[in-house]
Amino acid sequence: MNLLEAIRTRRSIQKMKPDPVPQSMIEQILEAATWAPNHFLTEPWRFIVLQGEGRKQLGKVFAALYVDKQRDEGINPDLLEKQAERALRAPVVILVIATPSPKKHILPREEFAACCAGVQNMLLTAHALGLGAIWSTGPAATHPRTRELFLLEEREEVVGFIYIGYPDQSLPKGKRTPFQHKTLWLNDKMT
Ligand SMILES: Cc1cc2nc3c(=O)[nH]c(=O)nc-3n(C[C@H](O)[C@H](O)[C@H](O)COP(=O)(O)O)c2cc1C
Repeated sequence: MNLLEAIRTRRSIQKMKPDPVPQSMIEQILEAATWAPNHFLTEPWRFIVLQGEGRKQLGKVFAALYVDKQRDEGINPDLLEKQAERALRAPVVILVIATPSPKKHILPREEFAACCAGVQNMLLTAHALGLGAIWSTGPAATHPRTRELFLLEEREEVVGFIYIGYPDQSLPKGKRTPFQHKTLWLNDKMT
C-alpha cells in the first residue's frame, strides 16, 4: 500500500476482533510514532500499552466516569460492569501521553502537536499492517482517575487512547470536504 492510498483509505474502526495482535506489529506502530516531527527534538511522548488484564486499568476510569454521572441517581451494578468492559473492545490499547519539556522556550502546544503527528503515524502504520485502529479521547482523557492510575505527572496530558485490533467490520466510507474549499492560494497569479 503506498502512502497516499494509506492516508485516503485509513478509517476509524469501532469494532475489533478479540484476536491478539503480534508483538512485532505493536512495536512497529510504536516505532512509527517516534518518527514524528518534533520541535527541538524533544521527543515529547511516552506510551503505555494495555493488553489482557492490563486493559482493566482503563476500565476503572470508565467505571469512575459512570459513578460520577450517576452520583444523584444511584449505581446500577450491571451498567457499572458494562462501562468497565468498554476498555476490552480491542485487544490492544495504547495510551499516548504528551510529556512537554519544562524548558522555557518550548511551547507545550507544540509538544502536544508533535504527539498528534505521532498518533497519525500510528494509525497509518496499523492500517498498512491490516489492523484497525481508532483514536479516542472523551472525558476519560482528562479524568483525575486516569492521571492517578497511569501516574501522569502534572505537566503531562493524555493525547489519546489508541484502540488497535483486527477489524471486525468493513472499512467505512470516508467523507471529506475537497481541499479546494479550504485553501487560499497566494502566488504569482494574483492580480
Ligand atoms: C483528537 C481526536 C479524538 C477523537 N476521539 C474520539 C472518541 O472519543 N470517540 C470516537 O468514536 N472517535 C474519536 N475520534 C475519531 C474521529 O471520530 C474520526 O477520526 C472521525 O469521525 C473521522 O473518521 P475517520 O477517522 O474514519 O476518517 C477522535 C479523533 C481525534 C483526532
